[in-house]
Amino acid sequence: MVYVVSMEKPDISENIIESLAQGVIAVDNLMNITVFNQAAEKITGISSSYAVKRHFTDVFTRDRWLHDIMNATIKKCNVFTEYEGSIVQRYGTPRSVSVTTAPVFNTKGDMIGAVVILKDTSHIKPLEQESARRDRLAFIGTFAASLAHEVKNPLGGIRGAAQLLSKRLKEKTFREYTDLIIRESDRLNSIMEDILEFANPKKINPLPVNIHKILDDVLMLQQCTIDARGINNIIREYDPSIPPILGDSEQLMQVFLNIIKNSIEAVGKNGEVRIITRVAADFHLIEERYRGGKFAEIEVRDNGCGIPEEYIEKIFTPFFTTKKKGSGLGLAISLKIIKEHGGFFRIDSTQGKGTVVSVLLPITREG
Ligand SMILES: Nc1ncnc2c1ncn2[C@@H]1O[C@H](COP(=O)(O)OP(=O)(O)OP(=O)(O)O)[C@@H](O)[C@H]1O
Ligand SMILES: [Mg+2]
Repeated sequence: MVYVVSMEKPDISENIIESLAQGVIAVDNLMNITVFNQAAEKITGISSSYAVKRHFTDVFTRDRWLHDIMNATIKKCNVFTEYEGSIVQRYGTPRSVSVTTAPVFNTKGDMIGAVVILKDTSHIKPLEQESARRDRLAFIGTFAASLAHEVKNPLGGIRGAAQLLSKRLKEKTFREYTDLIIRESDRLNSIMEDILEFANPKKINPLPVNIHKILDDVLMLQQCTIDARGINNIIREYDPSIPPILGDSEQLMQVFLNIIKNSIEAVGKNGEVRIITRVAADFHLIEERYRGGKFAEIEVRDNGCGIPEEYIEKIFTPFFTTKKKGSGLGLAISLKIIKEHGGFFRIDSTQGKGTVVSVLLPITREG
């Protein structure tokens, strides 16, 4: 229960209420709003000048559950503690909140209204989702790793036998079959290695690396595929001011190989893949938690098939693939590596138009 001397706000308590991080809303016995602090404005998107003196139900027009809670608090003196719900903000965006209510009494013990404390819980949901994602990944990782171990040995046997057979076969047409067995065994083996790598990633060995050298090496490795697919527009726009990045060159190479390979696979003949690097100043960064740091941004832009909206959030999930011969591990492994490096990904894609995959790596950690 909350006791206040009067519902008239003395200056000091007004300042205290205004500076609280939680939204504080007070109503009188008729449910007219008397207090609506700054945090309440931020959480609800409603200004206090609009809310104060209005009836609670006229301000929270779309939140019936909140009316019920307030009614129960005022009429039955019920107290609600950290009640989870979602309120509709002024422009229709839902926001998760936890609500605590209490009736308010004066010194004589007469009830003079009620108070609601609103806590913004919208950030808790993503954290829970992230933790569920981690659990799922850990499970997939362990399961897949044991499976990969079991598959790798017989696979080696199959490959060896096909090689022996190939040596003994005189007829060329039959040798095509054994070659196919060998090729497909190699492909399966590399998938198994990806799975093992995903489940037990190697520790990063951070040294100053030149990101442009890594990108050039990747493009050199991919040159045959680029030529075979008839892609003649590979454009590099490197920012020479990017300093060396503290990272594991082998693992970063794997990341950019995966990303560039995806772009090459996405574009058609005469497609274009553009690799742009720049130093990302603060204003380029939307994510609040990364503000204040300096990042190297490596952007791989293609004008390929694009990613349908409903797939965007799945592309980092292990084994998610839309390709006939894809393992769906490329981006899952890359995400893990980039996170290990303290960086993050950004994806922007329009189906039918193309995709932009950006990797942001911190450059402030050296020395
Ligand atoms: N540049 C891109 N353009 C279009 N789709 C893409 C692009 N990059 C990724 N994707 C989509 O994301 C999916 C997952 O990519 P990821 O690299 O993890 O696996 P994959 O390419 O299917 O298989 P793998 O890389 O293991 O051979 C792809 O199957 C594709 O649907
Ligand atoms: Mg891939």
